[in-house]
Amino acid sequence: MKKAFVKSYGCQMNAYDAARMADVLAAEGYAPTEAVEEADVVVLNTCHIREKAADKVYSELGRLRVLKNARAEAGRETKIVVAGCVAQAEGAEILSRAPSVDVVVGPQNYHRLTDLLVQSRQKRVVDTEFPVEDKFDHLPARRTHGVSAFLTVQEGCDKFCAFCVVPYTRGAEVSRSVAAILAEAEKLVRGGVREITLIGQNVNAYHGAGADGASATLPDLMRILQEIPGLLRLRYTTSHPNDMADALIAAHGTLPALMPYLHLPVQSGSDRVLKAMNRKHDAATYRDVIARIRAVRPDIALSSDFIVGFPGETEAEFAETMRLVAEIGFASAFSFKYSPRPGTPAADWADAVPEDVKSRRLAALQGLLDEQRHAFNAAAVGTVVEVLVEKAGRHPGQVAGKTPHLLPVQFDAPTSTIGTLVPVRIVRAGSNSLFGEAVPGAAVAGAAAAGAAAAA
Ligand code: SAH
Ligand code: SF4
Ligand code: F3S
Repeated sequence: MKKAFVKSYGCQMNAYDAARMADVLAAEGYAPTEAVEEADVVVLNTCHIREKAADKVYSELGRLRVLKNARAEAGRETKIVVAGCVAQAEGAEILSRAPSVDVVVGPQNYHRLTDLLVQSRQKRVVDTEFPVEDKFDHLPARRTHGVSAFLTVQEGCDKFCAFCVVPYTRGAEVSRSVAAILAEAEKLVRGGVREITLIGQNVNAYHGAGADGASATLPDLMRILQEIPGLLRLRYTTSHPNDMADALIAAHGTLPALMPYLHLPVQSGSDRVLKAMNRKHDAATYRDVIARIRAVRPDIALSSDFIVGFPGETEAEFAETMRLVAEIGFASAFSFKYSPRPGTPAADWADAVPEDVKSRRLAALQGLLDEQRHAFNAAAVGTVVEVLVEKAGRHPGQVAGKTPHLLPVQFDAPTSTIGTLVPVRIVRAGSNSLFGEAVPGAAVAGAAAAGAAAAA
């Protein structure tokens, strides 16, 4: 049997796309494998967001070239596919830099993967033109595995933050229709999925066609999806502060399936820097959104993205970021050194912040964020929370799942609990996971939004 190895870098959408490419290949008879040396097709689903992410691809391709040659000597062919955002950004340049690559395919074109593999028998191919058709209309049915799944509802970005490649690699903002999303969600739930995370580069800008032809917003969509029998939890990511509409904030207090967790990138606490970044919001707007969301859902876990060392960032401006973090308090966060990206406005700006200054600022910021994360995890100890069990745990007799706050938990229970909600008392917070014990029948903290609202 032919085998396919698919590896994904970058964001959740890339993980989703990688799973869909595996589906395309499975429909052609390729069994998935995790052993790259036995793969007849190797797909690298790449990320272009920072220089480091993009560079990884070329070192991986160097290793794959050796593997491909070794397999060829044994009479076996290997097709190497570069997909994702580096494929979109660099296109044919990849073919000249990496002689072992057979196919370069962009994030909007991978429904044609089978065709491209056939074409590559004649000649190496690049397919990165944004197609007129919608890839979702041409993908095979989704195979489901697992309890928690991503579902793309919106793709692309019209925001053009000065540092970011996404508007170029993913194209303009497009929302899928409610009907298409509902059909995919129902299929997932029939296949055993109990939690769906709706994903989009600007998921809260979602405005898909609804049943009546009118445009539906993200809270409209979630209200429809939460009626699917068997679906226990909904999440969404990633959001832009400017698109946190009142109705979406209100939904956090009224939709029982919507989990109390919000990833809302702020990037910086300095208004001067935010303006230079073309973020179109200031620090006060961000603080205000957080205050309003905490008013309807006081126990919400907050997460964010930060960039340090954006061109011209002064020590005082960086201190404003630290102050914002100290004030708000995050349960988790991602933080990065600014990385100039070819083709983005900020790439050519002067006043680059020296590397050692960036490193020092990042370390300080991550120190504070880590402290907050540990404090958040420690606060869970002693509480009883509802855990959605996802899989067998690290040790025999253990299972692993997530709390409403997206914290991973390990506890003793039979694997028959996979796919169910179990009340768990948290007894200890480790560095990467919480540990607990099942307390069947116990009342749980922070279970449903409606409950929280009623108690308030
Ligand atoms: N709205 C998007 C953001 C994608 S990029 C989303 O759906 O997730 C994720 C994060 O990478 C951004 O929020 C930003 O913090 C970071 N990032 C983007 N471009 C960057 C760059 N040039 N240098 C450093 N970090 C960057
Ligand atoms: Fe990039 Fe900004 Fe769009 Fe997010 S909102 S994807 S950071 S351009
Ligand atoms: Fe990376 Fe593209 Fe996602 S650049 S973060 S894989 S949208």
